[in-house]
Amino acid sequence: MSSELICFNAACRARYPIDAVLYTCPRCGGLLEVSPPVIERAGEMKTLWRQRRTSNGALDQSGVWRYREFLPFLDDFSGVVTLREGNTPLLEAPRAARYAGTGRLVFKHQGFNPTGSFKDNGMTCGVAQALRLKMTRVACVSTGNTSASMAAYASAAGLQPVIFIPHGNISYGKLAQALEYGAMTLQVEANFDEILALVRVLAEQLGIYLLNSINPFRIEGQKTIMVEMMDQRDWNPPDWVVLPGGNLGNTAAFGKALREMRECGLIPRLPRLAVIQAEGAAPFQALVEAGGAGKLEPVKKPETLATAIRIGDPVSWPKALHEVMTSGGATAKVSEQEIADAKAQIGLCGIGCEPASAATLAGLRQLRERGVIERGADVVAVLTGNLLKDPDYIYKYHTGRLETPGGEPIRPTFGNQPVVVPNDPVRIAELLESRRG
Ligand code: F0G
Repeated sequence: MSSELICFNAACRARYPIDAVLYTCPRCGGLLEVSPPVIERAGEMKTLWRQRRTSNGALDQSGVWRYREFLPFLDDFSGVVTLREGNTPLLEAPRAARYAGTGRLVFKHQGFNPTGSFKDNGMTCGVAQALRLKMTRVACVSTGNTSASMAAYASAAGLQPVIFIPHGNISYGKLAQALEYGAMTLQVEANFDEILALVRVLAEQLGIYLLNSINPFRIEGQKTIMVEMMDQRDWNPPDWVVLPGGNLGNTAAFGKALREMRECGLIPRLPRLAVIQAEGAAPFQALVEAGGAGKLEPVKKPETLATAIRIGDPVSWPKALHEVMTSGGATAKVSEQEIADAKAQIGLCGIGCEPASAATLAGLRQLRERGVIERGADVVAVLTGNLLKDPDYIYKYHTGRLETPGGEPIRPTFGNQPVVVPNDPVRIAELLESRRG
């Protein structure tokens, strides 16, 4: 079967060859998507995918390529570079469920990926397409995780990674990864949205392949987060899937995956999607709250300590809007305090995540309080990035030094101060006894 690129704009739907170097529709400027997979025997496919978990083949060991029939854009897999991405666990979190006030809460933790975020699921596909197109350089603008992931996959594949990041606004953990993985790293004095506009022009001019989530092949890879989740649940959909929203590529990917799984007969119904944004960077929440008609109004100066989602003009909003509406979903915006406290609660589950990921628990709690999500709901929340991505934030929270971008103090509600002690066994023993848990 040969797949195609299709314009997402319902009024256009122009079709292009799968190997055209395009990011948006030349006819109408709309976003592009890969044509859907055709799976005739859902039951046999489920068995095959399950069997591959015991295989030692590189593609089978990848939590992305194991589901390759669901990503129909390649017909030759010999050039695929995998770091064994995906394979991320579903973790029960009763304590976090109590905090949110829901019946059942399970975290799908994408921070277990090779570079510590969900970007790896998409990047292995984006890089596979770059290789197929015989590109030699790849580029992205990033709030940190995309660049870390792209640097790793491009270097593993022998391509040159060129990354653009907002100067001073990404965490050191992520910057360090990009440097270590050998990316040519440009720190631009502008915000994410401004840099994306710049990179789109430069990529075209210099023939560099763009690997932001506007790239439809990245979206194909990120679909497998939902496929793997369903596989792990024996194809029983939860009531809700909650995720953070920044540039909205993941929302687009999850919605596409869920619809396609239903159309192929892999799942009986769609879960509802809940997209959570930070208060200072919530243009999508505003659009959905207003009924979803019209265009997204960008936030000019987005601000949040959850720097991964510090985006004011999300590229994939038309796709994300379609997916939230189709699934009967919801949105919420959460404060810096809510994010910080939810993050500490996820830590206390022994799980941990980076700030943007914690927006999910904060948003779930809010949607429960507002009655949008019912008490007994079966919820999967996606933790997008690893705890160690942003240690600075954690240390400041627990020691009472975290401030909002506007300079307001954030309360260490669940703070855990380290204690300085003298080298004295008696005093230390007294202290430990007085603090017995
Ligand atoms: N969570 C984390 C940890 C992220 O890094 C991102 C996005 C998101 C959530 C939001 O996902 O953009 O698909 O809505 N990070 C991008 C980056 C923008 O450059 O790493 P989205």
